[in-house]
Amino acid sequence: MIQETRLNNDLRNALSGLASRHMERKLKVLTSQQGSWVEVDNRKVLNLCSNNYLDLATHPRVKNAAAAAIEKYGCGSGASRLICGNTPLQQELERRLASFKGKDAALLYPSGYAANLGAISCLAGPGDHIFSDELNHASIIDGSRLSRAAIEIYPHKNLAYLGERLENTLRASPSTRRLIVTDAVFSMDGDTAPLPGLVELAERFECTLMVDEAHATGALGPGGKGLVSQFGLEEKVPVIMGTLSKALGSLGGFIAGSRELAEYLVNNSRSFIFSTALPPPSVAAALESLTILEESPSLPEKLLENASYIRDKLTGLGFNTGKSTTQIVPVITGDPLTTSEMAQSLLRGGVWCASLRPPSVPEGGCRLRLSPMATHTREDLDFAVGVIKKTGRSLGII
Ligand SMILES: Cc1ncc(COP(=O)(O)O)c(C=O)c1O
Repeated sequence: MIQETRLNNDLRNALSGLASRHMERKLKVLTSQQGSWVEVDNRKVLNLCSNNYLDLATHPRVKNAAAAAIEKYGCGSGASRLICGNTPLQQELERRLASFKGKDAALLYPSGYAANLGAISCLAGPGDHIFSDELNHASIIDGSRLSRAAIEIYPHKNLAYLGERLENTLRASPSTRRLIVTDAVFSMDGDTAPLPGLVELAERFECTLMVDEAHATGALGPGGKGLVSQFGLEEKVPVIMGTLSKALGSLGGFIAGSRELAEYLVNNSRSFIFSTALPPPSVAAALESLTILEESPSLPEKLLENASYIRDKLTGLGFNTGKSTTQIVPVITGDPLTTSEMAQSLLRGGVWCASLRPPSVPEGGCRLRLSPMATHTREDLDFAVGVIKKTGRSLGII
């Protein structure tokens, strides 16, 4: 009891430290289903903070597929895939994802986070080298740390710097494994990785290249196949990671690559082996979303069109939207107080967007992150721009 009191005091002190720096995080309650408009605490607001980019999470066909899977297999999967949690649904989804990504095989994980952790920690180990873009997602950072390889963080998209480091490493330790890992779409900035240059470096310096297509899947490339497909580099990128939890409107992650890679991960990847398999409704939902995406190439096009529209309007008003070229549109605000005040004020005005502060972004790089969806209308986006303009002016941001 005394120990618990001491622990709680320590935690309370740490939390008030966060609050005094305007860095605390609070949960908001969604009281409706997902969509382009949602209810937060029973109030209707425009949703500009969802990764459900194509609005498939509530698509009637996706819901029906999930319901049918519950009827047939139940809600939970009972155990990991290697014990008794593997069904024909997962086998089918892996086949479909492999073909969607232009690879021979794919392996599902309970989340995208688990996929990065499980794959990176298998592809490099003590004595090996991981080269990671400084703006890579937290799951890449954590997977790299878990591997116990030497981690070299290269400045964002700086191929010249990376090339130099690779050359030095190859010269100094030619027999160790080298892995370059990058986000395809950087999740805080909405810019994209220089894939052709990374492929060239990976070939020249004999590295494995791994690309995280969490935000590129369903958004970029022909039919939303991703950035690797956009450049036609499927054969040059041996490891492609993706999620089911964003444009595909479900839950889960995957690694696409060779049959050998998938089999190796089944045998060695701890977040695959030691975690319960994705539940059948999530797998069935992702399968149906993939079918819808393949039938409707206009969905990702509409998403990017909406993103360009809102980005151009905001840039025109004087907001700093950074280097975004995708559906992730940051509005850089700088300090944590301005950022949280702006986010709260927007929410009161009926626009919900993410407020990002360290450690999600570097110190001084606080921002709002807007992610329009394919189903937002021009009126929706004009409404958002109006509210953002008014709030930005009242806070002196523009
Ligand atoms: C670039 C990137 N990779 C991986 C993940 C993790 O995916 P999931 O949410 O499916 O665990 C995310 C999620 O935000 C992400 O943005």
